[in-house]
Amino acid sequence: MSPEDIAFRLILRKIERSSSLDFTHYKDKCLKRRLRVRLRALDIHSYKEYFDFLQNNDKEMNTLIDTITINVTQFFRDYTAFKYLQSNLFVPYSEDKNLFKLRIWSAACSSGEEPYSIAIALREAFGRKIERVKIDIFATDIDDKSLEIAERGIYPAKNLRVLLDKEPEIIPKYFDKQKDGNYKIKDSIKEMIQFKKRDLIKDAHFTRINILFCRNLFIYFEKTLQEEILKKFHNDLINNGYLVLGKVETILGIGESYFRSLSVKERVYKKRLRSEK
Ligand SMILES: C[S@@+](CC[C@H](N)C(=O)[O-])C[C@H]1O[C@@H](n2cnc3c(N)ncnc32)[C@H](O)[C@@H]1O
Repeated sequence: MSPEDIAFRLILRKIERSSSLDFTHYKDKCLKRRLRVRLRALDIHSYKEYFDFLQNNDKEMNTLIDTITINVTQFFRDYTAFKYLQSNLFVPYSEDKNLFKLRIWSAACSSGEEPYSIAIALREAFGRKIERVKIDIFATDIDDKSLEIAERGIYPAKNLRVLLDKEPEIIPKYFDKQKDGNYKIKDSIKEMIQFKKRDLIKDAHFTRINILFCRNLFIYFEKTLQEEILKKFHNDLINNGYLVLGKVETILGIGESYFRSLSVKERVYKKRLRSEK
């Protein structure tokens, strides 16, 4: 190992000791890309120099953890995927007279924009029929700070950019605009969601799920970990359950024996039954 590789490993170990993160199966390439963001910001040119800078520097450690976990998200991120889900899953659910409950899991929910968007899309698809169905949306993430923002439910206008652009007319139904220009999510939406801290790798999973969202986290995981998690997701879903991944993520290898693609473009997958495998 070169001195720089050793310094890189030492930085990772230091982060793991200061947080609940475990990078064993995260891709080095992704972690290095995130680390470089900090190095550039500080005009530091080597991991060794950065490792020294990190010593007894809690402020930088917190910034580094935020940079590594990247909680970047948006309301209705990948708008066409939400439209696809609305027309192809949510509306048919609303018309199914035998459907009395729906369990949905947003498994890397960051600061809450994704689960709130799911709740809004469901309300738009169901209309008044929403009263007939008990809807539980579980929203989990490993990052405390993101979950605090999610619980608060107040967002700057820039996080609603997609909605402001595509469907501004629905915003007053689901948000109260504050005097300072921020948007506060209404209680009718908030009540549909339970936020909890969960590490997708180590903690217990939710089960009997109808739709599982795990978007923009898989890209950080090595193939073996992706496969292990896909196997668990298969188990977490009911027989005719669905999995939704992020726009640049895909199911390959062993994962294909657990899920089949419903929309290649929108990254929506259906659970394969044992008989199909
Ligand atoms: C880029 S955000 C994705 C947010 C949202 N799903 C979206 O697509 O807009 C990735 C999230 O994964 C979370 N995360 C990273 N490792 C995790 C783990 N092991 N378990 C649960 N969440 C994790 C991060 O804290 C971050 O909030």
